Amino acid sequence: TAQAASALRESEPMVRYEEYADIDWNNLGFGLTRTDYMYKAKCTLDNNFEQGQVTDYGNVELSPAAGVLNYGQGIFEGTKAFRGEDGRIFLFRPDQNAIRMQIGAERMCMQSPSIQQFVDAVKQTTIANKRWIPPPGKGSLYLRPLLIGTGPTLGLSPAPEYTFLVYASPVGNYFKEGTAPLNLYVNNEFHRATRGGAGGVKSITNYAPVIKAMLKAKEQGYSDVLYLDSVHKKYIEEVSSCNIFLVKGNVISTPATVGTILEGITRKSIIDIARDLGYKVEERLVAIDELMEADEVFTTGTAVSVASVGSVTYNDQRLEYKTGDESVSQKLYKTLVGIQLGKIEDKYNWVV
Ligand code: COI
Repeated sequence: TAQAASALRESEPMVRYEEYADIDWNNLGFGLTRTDYMYKAKCTLDNNFEQGQVTDYGNVELSPAAGVLNYGQGIFEGTKAFRGEDGRIFLFRPDQNAIRMQIGAERMCMQSPSIQQFVDAVKQTTIANKRWIPPPGKGSLYLRPLLIGTGPTLGLSPAPEYTFLVYASPVGNYFKEGTAPLNLYVNNEFHRATRGGAGGVKSITNYAPVIKAMLKAKEQGYSDVLYLDSVHKKYIEEVSSCNIFLVKGNVISTPATVGTILEGITRKSIIDIARDLGYKVEERLVAIDELMEADEVFTTGTAVSVASVGSVTYNDQRLEYKTGDESVSQKLYKTLVGIQLGKIEDKYNWVV
């Protein structure tokens, strides 16, 4: 990991300001913009990944019997590249995504790329698509590493072949609310994950099932859904696409990662930043009732970054929270983004 990080640093500077794709950089949301290149590597079940390569961005041809299509054998990652004021490009902790992909691959009985290969692939995809990295402050280049079972398997078994892909898209704010506070809805009926399932890894199978509850909440004017644990229906878990935190005085609490909650890289970065800023951070079971007492609520994720929550609606009760420039979540957000853009000293060695 350290080696990968230093290899990335040595390749600077990678771009100059004038190298921009011709799109409207002021209105990026979180939609797919087709970029120029993607990375692709393959391997069989018993072998390591071949040396991959950057190819033109385009469709992927699959067997109709591919493991990913039939049985959902696939995991993904999300990481971002930022353009600093001085034109330098920064990647945020891609080694952590590499490690998480390895853990997820083990859970899903898949081969996975080495940490070095993963980080290298992200770096190559970023450099190849550098004209798509938004100007400083306008967004980031979202990188989507995918590991999928592409070999055919009719009976339920690990696919005989795997493909590792990385593609990229410039993105702005994840939520249509932009940077305005989110309004979350606690859904009692649907659950995101259960103990012993795959909720703790970034399996593709964790995402399609939450769309139904999410769309219903959006129809009713909410930003997204906050899920409860499936056994007691009493503890908060996470939002469809991000982790959740509560602030009460000087204490920040977030649900412990007990197998049903994704171990977010932004989540753990925010925990470190908060502790260094003097907050007490607790990772534990967080009861839904604690939402009544909280001063602030916020969510974290790669796509989401840090987003303030203005309200949570639970059993027809709307609870409201402090937001705005003076909030704890904004202080954490500014620190994180400052590090990601190279504006605040990165004492953690997170950016490469
Ligand atoms: C991310 O935050 O990178 C994710 O993978 C969440 C996804 C639903 C956009």
